Amino acid sequence: MAARRRTAVLISGRGSNLRALIEACARPDASAEVVLVISNRADAAGLRHARDCGIATEMIPHGAFATQVGFENAIDRTLHEHAIALICLAGFMRVLSPWFVERWRDRLLNIHPSLLPAFRGLETHRRVLAAGVRFSGCTVHLVRAEVDDGPILVQAVVPVRPDDDEASLAARVLAAEHRCYPMALELVASGRASVVDEHVKIDGATAPDAVLLNPASF
Ligand code: GRF
Repeated sequence: MAARRRTAVLISGRGSNLRALIEACARPDASAEVVLVISNRADAAGLRHARDCGIATEMIPHGAFATQVGFENAIDRTLHEHAIALICLAGFMRVLSPWFVERWRDRLLNIHPSLLPAFRGLETHRRVLAAGVRFSGCTVHLVRAEVDDGPILVQAVVPVRPDDDEASLAARVLAAEHRCYPMALELVASGRASVVDEHVKIDGATAPDAVLLNPASF
C-alpha cells in the first residue's frame, strides 16, 4: 500500500469534524493520516482531543502577529516542518490569503455547512431558515481565493423541517458533515479525485438516482 498522505487539520473550536477525520484515518485502509492539528485559539476543544489521540498539536494565535502574512507564514513553516501533504480546514475561523491558498492549491480542503454556492459565509443556518428553502446540506471543496469557493468534492443534502430552528438544523447538517469530510479526504489522498477545468472528477464514482421531495407527504 502507498504511504499515507500526511494531513494537517486546522481548527478554531469544537473540532467535531476533526474527530470524524481522525476516526476515519484510523482505519487500516485509509489513504490519509492526521499527523498535526493547528489551532489559532488556545481554548479550541479539538486540541485536547488531538493530544489525547497522540497527535502533534501547534497553537498559532493570529493575535501574536502584526500582519496576516506573518500569521500565515508561521502556519506554512509549521506545515513544512511536519512534512504535511494535505490540509483540512475544519471550523478554522480565519480567512487565508490568496498567496497561501495558491501555495497549497488542490491540497487544501474546506467544509462549509450549506449546499455551495448557496449561502456562503457566516450564520449559514440562520440565513437558510430565513430564505425558506426546503433543503440544506454541506459541501467539502478544494479551497480557492474567494471565501467558500472552489471545486466541489462531496456534498450531502438534508431536509429543512417546518419546526427547525438554527440548532436543530445545524445538528442535522453536522451529522452529514461527519460523513462527507472523511469521504472527501479519502478521495483526495487516494488520488481518485482530480481537478479538470476547475471541476472535480472522481474515478469510478456513481451518483445517486433518487429524487427527494420536501414535503414528502401532506
Ligand atoms: C462546521 O459546521 C463546519 O462546517 C464549519 O464550522 C463548523 C465546525 O464545527 N466550517 P466543528 O469544529 O468541526 O465541530
